[in-house]
Amino acid sequence: MANPKSHVFILITTLLALLLLLHFPSVSLAQTLFVFGDGLYDAGNKQFLSQNRVDASFPPYGITLGKATGRWSDGRIVPDYLANFMGIPQIPPFLQSTADFSHGASFAIADATVLGSPPETMTLSQQVMKFSENKNKWTNKTLSEAIYMIYIGSDDYLNYAKNNPSPSDAQKQAFVDQVITKINAEIKVVYGVGGRKFAFQNLAPLGCLPAVKQANGNVQECVKLPSEMAALHNKKLLQLMIELSKQLNGFQYSFYDFFSSIQNRVIKSKTYTFETGIAACCGTGSINGSDCSSNNVCAKPEEYIFFDGKHLTQEANLQVGHLMWGADPEVVGPNNLRELMVLPLDLTVILGDIHEAMAAMRPRQSKIESLYDTKKMDLDMENQWFYQVDKAASFLI
Ligand SMILES: *[C@@H]1O[C@H](CO)[C@@H](O)[C@H](O)[C@H]1NC(C)=O
Ligand SMILES: *[C@@H]1O[C@H](CO)[C@@H](O)[C@H](O)[C@H]1NC(C)=O
Repeated sequence: MANPKSHVFILITTLLALLLLLHFPSVSLAQTLFVFGDGLYDAGNKQFLSQNRVDASFPPYGITLGKATGRWSDGRIVPDYLANFMGIPQIPPFLQSTADFSHGASFAIADATVLGSPPETMTLSQQVMKFSENKNKWTNKTLSEAIYMIYIGSDDYLNYAKNNPSPSDAQKQAFVDQVITKINAEIKVVYGVGGRKFAFQNLAPLGCLPAVKQANGNVQECVKLPSEMAALHNKKLLQLMIELSKQLNGFQYSFYDFFSSIQNRVIKSKTYTFETGIAACCGTGSINGSDCSSNNVCAKPEEYIFFDGKHLTQEANLQVGHLMWGADPEVVGPNNLRELMVLPLDLTVILGDIHEAMAAMRPRQSKIESLYDTKKMDLDMENQWFYQVDKAASFLI
């Protein structure tokens, strides 16, 4: 346990933080979360929109929690953990019309894309439109203090790579530009409705997904093109964030380097508590890349990064949630979610130099490893919290 001195310190900092919160009402504690994206963030929307059987509504999805909810995992997904860390209830799928949306809504749905119009899902534009049409469910204050989480684009690039096996560099770049242009437009719609705090999770190395490797026939190596498209996208997305924070007054963001997190875990699974980062827990084929069902689920999902060919286990989602919430700028920057949550609304964080921001994103293996020593991490998180409140407060003095 910590020594008594540090308890006194914590007490004093807590009192200080409380005093500051009382005296500076503009300290905004985000208590609302809006979620946009695809199957990785889907809290159950797909089952309300599909005419067909939705796998995630049946076991083995949800087995770790004992209940299938339409989430594409054995248990909880990343937005569940973040809501929990924020101290608010789980964010319900918007299409579940009877749910309580007082702390936000999730518009994310499996198979969602940025471009095109795939059936039985909602593109990013359609998700944002649904949000915008229903904005009166929330006050202006709530809308501007809320955090807007976004993970989208995987299916755009997976479909692209399938249909264009050997594109030129210019063609790749042109496609990425189309996707980013559309994301830019949708962020501006959310901003127009009042949104200020955006949390982006960049794209995974898509060629490392078991489904993609297995379909490619060589399960030893990640497939090059899908991962390359994701990397190009991620670079442009970060540039877009930096651009928007200069362009839009009060725009604040968090950019989490999911790509490196997955890459590190696939390569050095054991370092991160997993038995394997190659095969999925559930499915058929040499690395369980497809057709997950109750007949082919592993006994211990927590030993795997991937639950099915394309989605993470609850354990992997938990690690991601921790990193987005509390990790340092090598992993998530310029603010992590905990910081984003308490940032005053009138504060604009401008990172002028793209190179500086890119350098800050570069994963430092050793740092991440020590970060993921869980006990130490809990302690770090505790300390960071007080540091953060102090930091937020110091902006106001
Ligand atoms: C909320 O903000 C919009 C503009 O974004 C404005 O037109 C509207 O009057 C505001 N509503 C209230 C109740 O302040
Ligand atoms: C594939 O899933 C089965 C359960 O059906 C599991 O026992 C097996 O270990 C998995 N394959 C690999 C390579 O992990």
